[in-house]
Amino acid sequence: MREKQRKLQLPEKLRWNHNEWYRRWLLRQLPSRAAAALDVGCGLGDLARSLKADEVTAIDASARMIERASATSSRIRWIHGDVLTHDLGRYDVVTAEASLHHLPLREGLTRLAELTKPGGLLVVIGLYMTATRADRAMEIVTLPANAIVGLAKAINGTGGTPHDPEMPVVFTAPTLREIRAAAAEITPGARIRRHVFWRYSLVWRRPEVH
Ligand SMILES: C[S@@+](CC[C@H](N)C(=O)[O-])C[C@H]1O[C@@H](n2cnc3c(N)ncnc32)[C@H](O)[C@@H]1O
Repeated sequence: MREKQRKLQLPEKLRWNHNEWYRRWLLRQLPSRAAAALDVGCGLGDLARSLKADEVTAIDASARMIERASATSSRIRWIHGDVLTHDLGRYDVVTAEASLHHLPLREGLTRLAELTKPGGLLVVIGLYMTATRADRAMEIVTLPANAIVGLAKAINGTGGTPHDPEMPVVFTAPTLREIRAAAAEITPGARIRRHVFWRYSLVWRRPEVH
């Protein structure tokens, strides 16, 4: 993994949270109700709290994130642990919002796939590294759009913090090509899409076992 290129930084007041932007999209991919859902790298738990499932589990490797998230809801089973090694079950829905790039790609994706029950759904919103001409061409749209959304959010008072100051972030990410190659082997048939604000999505239904 290489250092992710630093994007042209907007002034502090115009910055906003790109993960949150895609959360509604992510939620629309999910069934209206699931029996058991897992959110991986839950951070402060915003996505976990929006999951519609009889049982929601949320795991994060940061003790501080889990301490703060668990103070917000007792409905959710909050786990402080490493998703790669923690003893977890299998889930009808597995989500990972901006957390897969914190893990070694193939190991992380293999683990997310393992945690998904046969017939269950895995939905990832992730960061990719700008590496190709197509990626840079995309930035012709992304950079002005980023500033326009930032400005609109600054005007209506909803912008300003791309992420919480205590949230662990990393500035490395795989390229889309690496993600597609890993997914072709580990989650064959997964639908991978590039999104505007330096994000991709991966949606995979684990085949039923017959
Ligand atoms: C950029 S934050 C995203 C948090 C949240 N999903 C969101 O979108 O606001 C990535 C989170 O992944 C967590 N994380 C990193 N490595 C992890 C691991 N091995 N197991 C579980 N969580 C991990 C970090 O502690 C961090 O809270």
